[in-house]
Amino acid sequence: MKFARHRRLRQNATMRKIVRENQINIADLIYPLFVVEGKGIRNEILSMPGQYQFSLDKLEVEMQTVNALGIPAVILFGIPEYKDAVGSEAYNDEGILQQAIRMIKEKFPKILVIADTCLCEYTDHGHCGVIEHDCVLNDESLELLVKTAVSQAKAGADIIAPSNMMDGFVVAIRTGLDEAEFEMVPIMSYAVKYASAFYGPFRDAADSAPRTGPKDRKGYQMDSANSREAMREAQSDVEEGADFLIVKPALSYLDITRQVRDRFDLPIVTYNVSGEYSMVKAASQKGWIDEKRIVMEQLVSMKRAGADMIITYFAKDVATWLTEGCEE
Ligand code: PBG
Repeated sequence: MKFARHRRLRQNATMRKIVRENQINIADLIYPLFVVEGKGIRNEILSMPGQYQFSLDKLEVEMQTVNALGIPAVILFGIPEYKDAVGSEAYNDEGILQQAIRMIKEKFPKILVIADTCLCEYTDHGHCGVIEHDCVLNDESLELLVKTAVSQAKAGADIIAPSNMMDGFVVAIRTGLDEAEFEMVPIMSYAVKYASAFYGPFRDAADSAPRTGPKDRKGYQMDSANSREAMREAQSDVEEGADFLIVKPALSYLDITRQVRDRFDLPIVTYNVSGEYSMVKAASQKGWIDEKRIVMEQLVSMKRAGADMIITYFAKDVATWLTEGCEE
């Protein structure tokens, strides 16, 4: 009986290289950074070893490394000292995020600065919008998100990335940006964002866990059991004018990335979230896994699922490994 000799194409490294279908490039990477007020601060986040909250001066030092590694884009999260019920620091033109955007655009003009547009880091209750009677109000929150996006664009943000999951946020922000003459600023929408336990370490980092009001975000983020609903979410964002679509988290939702890839022609981004980072870090610190190989395997699986870009806390490591040339 004749049989297929698949192993012909696996017999040595060069052969494997020429038939490889997907690869990770430094140009695919987006590095998340947390910015706090103050000076001289570089606080390691307990549940995310190797990740820090930076004050502006230390952020500049970190950006030198990011720049030297050739990472094309960063996504910024601001953590203000003052929080209130309506998240006013989010749309303060002198807020910490706006200052960070201005600093990076001044010192590293070629790096794309993506502003995460949300209120949960800025509200004292920790929700992504305004709350009333234990409910996160949709349309009232939209107004604040528009103000936030416009303020971020004014500071120089290259891309606006709304992550709050209020309905209609793309069209509201698009209209607001256009009216303020930022029609060339693209929207990278967190189109498909699940109510996920994988965000746990991020909420330590960004001090953004819900404190009062609804105990979780299930009233606005998606149910992890659903995939058809994800297509409806993505569809409405495309119709409302999104320029990029984010699927988040990454690893447990590769099927969703694949379906979004098959249906829509926009650039697709997966967010390799905090919990996914922390699990790899913890296991590798115990010596139970090979961190580099695990990370590269996970990231290439996101590319295989159809992602064009990956937001990942491993961006600096990956850029370093790719530069060193990790032949397998
Ligand atoms: C909302 C936001 C969150 C993350 C990114 N943007 C947290 C949330 O929805 O609770 C999570 C990212 C991560 O876990 O790495 N501002």
